[in-house]
Amino acid sequence: MRVDIISLFPEFVAQCAAFGVVGRAQERGLLSIHGWNPRDFAEGNYRRVDDRPFGGGPGMVMLIDPLRAAIDAARTADPAPARVVYLSPQGRALNQARVRALAGQSRIILLCGRYEGVDERLLAAEVDEELSIGDYVLSGGELAAAVVVDAVARLQDGVLNDADSAVQDSFEGDGLLDCPHYTRPVEHSLGTVPEVLLSGNHAEIARWRRRQALLRTRERRPDLLAAAGLSAEEARWLEA
Ligand code: ADE
Repeated sequence: MRVDIISLFPEFVAQCAAFGVVGRAQERGLLSIHGWNPRDFAEGNYRRVDDRPFGGGPGMVMLIDPLRAAIDAARTADPAPARVVYLSPQGRALNQARVRALAGQSRIILLCGRYEGVDERLLAAEVDEELSIGDYVLSGGELAAAVVVDAVARLQDGVLNDADSAVQDSFEGDGLLDCPHYTRPVEHSLGTVPEVLLSGNHAEIARWRRRQALLRTRERRPDLLAAAGLSAEEARWLEA
């Protein structure tokens, strides 16, 4: 998969993607990241990329032309069609379903805003999808772009070492939060590992994990339970 980042700080996003699973994906040639700085496409001595908003008010708005030239350069660098995603707090909420859809694209262009935002005409002309990573305001789209890169990279075939681990994640498969995990030692001053996990009984372990996932989801994210499709026994667990 190819990801192009349009940003005043493209190196920042690339740095976020240099480590761990995403770094390994790049080393394995499963993901390539390319940065494009609109300032490099801006004109004049000051290489201006923003201006005051019409109608007044605080902050600055990013200019159409430097952004458009950067997007064009990214498009031209690879002929495969690209979905352009703008990161902003006004976007639709990012979730694992959107991540999966994006991970299935052969390339995406991530557009990061700064200041008060981007001229709406550029968004209307160039952007296929606007995404938010949560109901809070960041000082720019770069951290959100890094979140998208990380989430889509780990879903590329061959990136995760244990092929099952993505399926077991929270929000994958059954759409529930993940169950608790334990490793050695069995006995620790902070507590003991639940006995069932040491039993070797895989059916019992799966049942325990499912129950824990359901209880945890009810406590922390009851909104996710509606889509979980509970058996009669599972519904009883939650009544208790
Ligand atoms: N840019 C600023 N805040 C953001 C958010 N919450 N999500 C995506 N992009 C952003």
